[in-house]
Amino acid sequence: MLGPQGSGKGTQAAKLVDRFGFRYVASGDVLRAARQSDTELGREVRRYYDAGELVPDDLTIRLILQEMGEDVGGPGVILDGFPRTLPQAVALDRALEARGERVDLALELTAPLDVVKKRLEGRLYCRAANHDYNTYFRPPRRPGVCDVDGSELYRRPDDYPEAIERRLAIWREQNGQLVEHYERAGVLRRVDADRPVEEVARSISALLERMGVAA
Ligand code: AP5
Repeated sequence: MLGPQGSGKGTQAAKLVDRFGFRYVASGDVLRAARQSDTELGREVRRYYDAGELVPDDLTIRLILQEMGEDVGGPGVILDGFPRTLPQAVALDRALEARGERVDLALELTAPLDVVKKRLEGRLYCRAANHDYNTYFRPPRRPGVCDVDGSELYRRPDDYPEAIERRLAIWREQNGQLVEHYERAGVLRRVDADRPVEEVARSISALLERMGVAA
């Protein structure tokens, strides 16, 4: 899944996992887990992540390919947030080719930058189980408290204005090359993500069904 931060990649991926049974690998989740570890690797990831910078390609590629594992199986894997640079896309193509697999679809979620900025500024997660809320679009019943488990809500360290600007600037730098790469491969499709979540989900499901993916 391609698209700017806040376009709803994670939100839509969760729906696709439920409906189609894909496996889901999100580079952000993998790097957030690495960031927590009190090791040299954890400290290196934290330095980049918290500033909204990309984690270096060699480290990211290693961690994501490891997370994907050798056997994709089933209906396949949704990769969210990876690849995010051309070298990452090339490394992914090579790794898949070596197993006789390939990227079937590069799905770009499109939305204006002022819309995605507002979504990121409003995003909150709960400490206990990462249930997500949005102060603008889906506020909790009690401010700062999770409706489901009562735990405290927090903002991601990279969801503050300076880091959001940095992340979107990097996205603007990198996205053109990625889109071109997948356009050349004939697998790029775009979906307008500046619509309500359920509407976007219906468009993506219809696209997958047209491609022959069974719900
Ligand atoms: P990552 O965790 O991947 O974050 P991101 O790319 O910044 O993407 P987001 O999770 O912010 O956006 P999303 O599109 O998933 O939006 P969401 O569905 O949550 O990466 C974090 C960091 O890790 C990077 O900055 C970097 O440091 C590192 N990293 C990750 N991958 C890397 C890589 N490949 N190489 C190097 N470094 C890497 O939605 C956002 C909000 O909007 C939510 O509140 C949601 O409820 C709301 N929302 C969603 N859709 C809608 C809608 N249609 N209408 C209204 N609200 C909506």
